[in-house]
Amino acid sequence: MHRVPFGDLSRQYARHRNEIDSAINRVLERGWFVLGEEGRLFEQEWAAFVGAVDAVGCGSGTEAIHLALWAHGVGPGDVVVTVPNTCVPTVAGISLTGARVVLCDVNPDTALMDPSSLEEVLSEHRVKAVVPVHLYGTPADLSRIAGLAAQHGAVLVDDAAQAHGARYRSRPVGAQGFTTCWSFYPSKNLGAFGDAGAVTTHSPEIAERLRMLRNYGQERRYYHKIPGTNSRLDEIQAAILRAKLPHLEAWTARRAEIAQRYRTGITNPALRHLFIPTNVSSCYHLYPIRTAARDGFLRFMAEKGVECLVHYPVPVHLQEAYRYLGYARGDFPHAERLCDEVVSLPMFAELSDDEVDYVIESANAFQG
Ligand SMILES: Cc1ncc(COP(=O)(O)O)c(C=O)c1O
Repeated sequence: MHRVPFGDLSRQYARHRNEIDSAINRVLERGWFVLGEEGRLFEQEWAAFVGAVDAVGCGSGTEAIHLALWAHGVGPGDVVVTVPNTCVPTVAGISLTGARVVLCDVNPDTALMDPSSLEEVLSEHRVKAVVPVHLYGTPADLSRIAGLAAQHGAVLVDDAAQAHGARYRSRPVGAQGFTTCWSFYPSKNLGAFGDAGAVTTHSPEIAERLRMLRNYGQERRYYHKIPGTNSRLDEIQAAILRAKLPHLEAWTARRAEIAQRYRTGITNPALRHLFIPTNVSSCYHLYPIRTAARDGFLRFMAEKGVECLVHYPVPVHLQEAYRYLGYARGDFPHAERLCDEVVSLPMFAELSDDEVDYVIESANAFQG
């Protein structure tokens, strides 16, 4: 019997060991570990890759969301809108600003922010910022969301923690002129060897604020212009990310190839694929399918030796931690149903064709 893991970071390291080891050694030999040459160069390279004016490294994707909103002046008393079927750190990052989180529903076919649900929220609340999530690596409907946000005087800060290399209307996510938040958590499409994040921006003023906010509000050493925090991308992580970045396009292409095989190969009527809009290219951070018989499918795939995971089983508004937001089951029916039905298949660039074929064969053998 095969065993197909959900992910396996050791395969990537094995293939790129020399480049990664020498990047780490470069930092060790230089003896400079926080806010140095590697971070500065990675920021330039990442901004160029996504087509933004600047990038500012920080400690994690959660912190990227916190810092980005903070830099735009979001704070206590403000309202920020996002979606319920996201990874909880989207909401954790927003909450760190002290702003109130308000949710809107998602499109049932794409699992992404639904502009008409957003519009309802925008007409009911004075919203300071809208945070669409490019969930699973598929860009949200940015132009409609941005149009609505602008109409209501709200800023758009997008959560691209899963969207490295994804494209919206042929341009990379991050190139659209918004403030975009990235995570380089190890299992992301571009992952560090620990926590890491960044914010990309098209505004030199926002970039300057971000650089102060992440470094205790310092304008220069020991001169603090604004209150800030400590959230920096360290030199070892930046050097690792620089070593990996030249491979990101090839990894994304391989993920797209695997996704295509899943899409055409899995024809079991008990399983449904998510819809990817025609004007975007997903970077397939994850490949979820839907089934009303999820528990049975998970058990069946586990017996076959195929590791699957659920992203995410409980929407934000039904999490114990966010009960205080005041929502109940039934408030966001599309997000709730997706959380009940989605299940992610193994997806990483180093999966072999044989493994992909085995996942397809196993999924097709499931009797829902
Ligand atoms: C959609 C989304 N937003 C935010 C985050 C937070 O990133 P991090 O884990 O780097 O804090 C993640 C990843 O965990 C994510 O998937």
